[in-house]
Amino acid sequence: MNTSEFRARKKSGPPLVCVTAYDTPFAHLAEEAGVDAILVGDSVGRTTLGYENELPVTIDDIARHTAAVKRGAGSTLVIADLPFMSYVHPDDALRNAATLVQIGGADAVKLEGGSDLAGITELLVDRGFAVMAHVGLTPQTAHRLGGYRLQGAALSSAQAIVDDTNAQATAGAFATVLEMLPARLAKSITAHVAIPTIGIGAGPDCDGQIQVLHDLLGFSSPALRHTRVFTDVAQLTGKALRAYAKEVRAGTFPTEDQSFKGNRGVVNRLTFE
Ligand code: KIV
Repeated sequence: MNTSEFRARKKSGPPLVCVTAYDTPFAHLAEEAGVDAILVGDSVGRTTLGYENELPVTIDDIARHTAAVKRGAGSTLVIADLPFMSYVHPDDALRNAATLVQIGGADAVKLEGGSDLAGITELLVDRGFAVMAHVGLTPQTAHRLGGYRLQGAALSSAQAIVDDTNAQATAGAFATVLEMLPARLAKSITAHVAIPTIGIGAGPDCDGQIQVLHDLLGFSSPALRHTRVFTDVAQLTGKALRAYAKEVRAGTFPTEDQSFKGNRGVVNRLTFE
């Protein structure tokens, strides 16, 4: 799917299914599962690189993970996150978006911001980039927003999020993420804005949903309210590793089945001084 087809799904078809991935095998699984778009999110910082939050993630991190995802994603749309502070100045935004497209192979880039960054979106779109916006809870500015919490509960902040979404749509974004909003607000924005809304913690009435892969697989502990563990892969992985360790220690792995005998004649003629 390309970004025009993605955008056209505003008007028809089932809700868009988006998920994050950061490497080739999971991108391949997402492609095989038929997801509509893969986001190489800066959530890679928390899920994969061991950081406490998204802020330390660099453009090189996202470019490398995007290239890995691209190698597994087939024809699935791949969107790469512009990380913290990488798109504040127009020159940086252009150079870093180019890195994600040229080195990473991204089909589109995502930036966090509304009215304040509409000029950057416009610039990128004018230069030929496909841009996804991200409003509501924006993890890169979580310090200012008072942490990872619901946004848009009061009228003034709800109106600001409506204005942010409109500004990004007018600037040329092909879609926008709506993160951690009251479901009623997300529904109303979805009904009024011209581009697809992709919700995370924004209720069921968006044009699509996005989730962080590791949350779906049980790697977030404690489990977050806005997500669901569909299969506890974390628990299964722990079980597999405990079984492996137990068998190695007991001498029951590897067996002949996992070994290569070799030639006795060769071994017998070896000298060890
Ligand atoms: O980085 C990320 O994974 C994201 C999603 C939560 C939308 O931005």
